[in-house]
Formats: sequence, structure tokens, C-alpha cells
Amino acid sequence: MHMNELILKKRNGGVHNEAELTYLVNEFVKGTIPDYQMSAWLMAVYFRGLTAEETAQLTLAMAQSGEQIDLSSIPGITVDKHSTGGVGDKTTFILASIVAACGVPVAKMSGRGLGHTGGTIDKLESIPNVKVALTKEEFFHLVRTVGVAVTGQSGNLAPADKLLYALRDVTGTVDSIPLIASSVMSKKLAAGSEAILLDVKVGSGAFMKTYEEALALAETMVAIGTHNHRKTVALITDMDRPLGQAIGNATEMAEVVATLQGQGPEDLVKESLALAANMLYLGGKGSFETCQALVQETLASGAAWAKFCEMVTAQGGEASVLTNPRFKEATYKDAVLAPVSGYITHMDAETCGRAALILGAGRYTKTDTLDYKAGIWMLKKTGDYVSAGETIGYVQSNTQETLAEAKARYISALTFGAQAPVEQPLVWARVTAEGTESYI
Ligand code: URA
Repeated sequence: MHMNELILKKRNGGVHNEAELTYLVNEFVKGTIPDYQMSAWLMAVYFRGLTAEETAQLTLAMAQSGEQIDLSSIPGITVDKHSTGGVGDKTTFILASIVAACGVPVAKMSGRGLGHTGGTIDKLESIPNVKVALTKEEFFHLVRTVGVAVTGQSGNLAPADKLLYALRDVTGTVDSIPLIASSVMSKKLAAGSEAILLDVKVGSGAFMKTYEEALALAETMVAIGTHNHRKTVALITDMDRPLGQAIGNATEMAEVVATLQGQGPEDLVKESLALAANMLYLGGKGSFETCQALVQETLASGAAWAKFCEMVTAQGGEASVLTNPRFKEATYKDAVLAPVSGYITHMDAETCGRAALILGAGRYTKTDTLDYKAGIWMLKKTGDYVSAGETIGYVQSNTQETLAEAKARYISALTFGAQAPVEQPLVWARVTAEGTESYI
């Protein structure tokens, strides 16, 4: 087999067989296919696409390119959850606590943030002393004994994806649905859970800006999971405004704590419950209605909050830190005032994320260090009426010089108008192997 033949085949609209895709992935990881040939093939895929079967086979070859975690020794149906990335998205901690408190084991490997979207591991790391790089033994032990553990991704999980992603990033081939789907799902397959819940974000703060794109990605990923014998469900959820009222790391963890204590913002609570109910359903906890009732009870009873504290403690942190008001405070804090009177008709979520980045909450490059306390509190969001001069939020940071620029950027993300905007649903659709239920 020769790579130049495979490039020509895809360029001319041909369909690869499994042996060709396995060859391509394995030889690239070994270094025998040079970057320039792989770049040409990626561009051919970008324009020609991949069939559902090719996408599933490519994904499996990528998943098999490195370590594959075997979770079969953990009792119960293990369920993984993946979000395609958003602003203010801290649902993982809420739903992992709910789901684990209901007896479904959660073995969660997460990543760090890059660009305007936050990373689960960075948020967890904002809790002093919490260990986010668990050894495999520690990870398994905690999932067995506590029922939940959250750790950074193992270095050798789907190495083909790491190499391909780095190349896509510099060759204009990131935003191809089969390539995104195979990238996400290769890591999910290698991480070993029997069932997978995907949270596909749509809107101004998401990779997928339109419903059609998000739906195509969700359907492609569900098809990959199903083809590889993993029960897979995707929810398409709104990212046309940030989720909840906090953006940042410690700020977002403080909002997780408030939510688990029954005082979370409505959108975050609703979305977390919807995701948790689907995870429980995938975990075999009964009918979907039973799971919906169970997640509400588990949040309301405080069992999920207790499970979260248990997880933080087991990973080396102190739960008492979470309820100390100083946990969410930075040295400098400044009010954001409404520039005009009117309804907030739109929030550009990506720009909100970029304002948090200016404060120090995220990274411009992989080696940047974070200010864990930096972030934004959004007191008013899309649909709220505000009066000129009213405090609509706060920016905070340990670096005073960042506040003015971040405030200006945040305000630039907001659109004001005389009419209240049409309300958007939080969950736009639910995609399963059986089909798509659309709620818009
Ligand atoms: N997230 C991933 O893991 N891969 C992509 O290609 C895009 C987003």
C-alpha cells in the first residue's frame, strides 16, 4: 500500500476500506508517512468527506493507536460524558456527582482549556491540593470506592489523534465533521466506558455555530459509538450564551458548589439535570422518566453534594475550602455597568470567554499559567431587562491591569434592544441510534 495512492483515491472521491485506514493511521504514528502526505490526505477528506463506515473505521484505528483502558473490572455500567466545549460549562462536576450518588460509576478523563473554552481539569485544579493527574491504580481505586474520579487524560490515549489534531490545526482541516467526530470518539473509545453521553454545543460560543452542523456532528458521533458497540446518546445544547453565571476556574467551581447545594442558576440546573438523567438512563437505572425523577431527588436531598465533597477529599482536597467565601475571591474586582437601558438580546459567548481569557482565566498558548481566581460573574443574561448604569456583572483578577480591557471586551459581547428576544431552548435535540428528537 502507498500513501500517494490513498491520497489520490480520496482526492478523486473514492471510498477507503478498513485495511487502508488502519495502514494510514498506524504508519503515520510510526512516522513513516510524512506530515506533507498526511496533510494532503486530510485536505482531500475535508473536501470529499468520509462515509459513515470509513469514519467508524478511522476512529477505531485511532483509538487502537495507543493505550486502551479496560474498565471491565468496575462493577456496573460505566458511562462517560464528553462536551464539545463551551463557555461557563461546568456541568461535568454536577452530573458526575449526581450520577455517582445514584450508583452509576463515573470514570472521567478530562482535558485542559485552550482558547476561549474552559477545561474541566483546570477548574478542578483551582481547588487547592486536589490531585488531577491520578495514576491508573489511584483512578481505578477511586472509581471503585467513591464511585467517581476525574483525572487528566493519560498521555498515551489515542496518540494518533494528538498527531493528527496538531496537523489539522495548521493545515485548515479542523472543521471537518468526520475529522472532529473521529477525533472526539477515538478518545472516548480508548477511555473504555461502556456507554457515552455526548454534549454537542451549538451557538456563538461553540465549535458548531448552526443547528445543522451540530446535528450532523451529533449524528456522526452517535453512529461511530453504535458501530463500535457503545451505547451512545448525544444532546445538542445551547451555547449561544455562556452557561450559568460564572466564567473562570474557582468562580465556576463556586457555582458548582452553589448548584449542588440547591442554589444554582436555572439554566445550569436544568441542563445538568437533563444530562445527568441521560447518563443514568445509559447506566441502566430504569426508564427515562424514572431517571429524570431520580436525578432531581439526588440533587434536592444533598446526596450529590455529599458525593462531590467525598470526591474532592479522596483526590486530596479539603471540602471545607469550597464553602469558604475566600475560595471564589480574587484580589481585584470591578463592577460591569449596563451602557444603555434595554433587554440583553444576545450574548456572544465566544467573546465572553475571550474577556475571561484577558483576566487570566485561560491560556493563549499551552504553556501559559492560569490565574485560578480570574473570571466573570454575569448577573444579567440574555432576555433580562437592564437599566443604564445598573451593575450587570463583575470581572475579577489578581492582576489589576487586566480589568478595564476585560470589561470592555465583555460589554462588546452584549447586544441590547427594546424588545425581549425570543427564548431559546437549552436542549435543542436528543440524538440516539434510533433517531433524533428535535425540541426547536
Ligand atoms: N475536540 C476534539 O477533541 N477534536 C476535534 O477535532 C475538535 C474538538
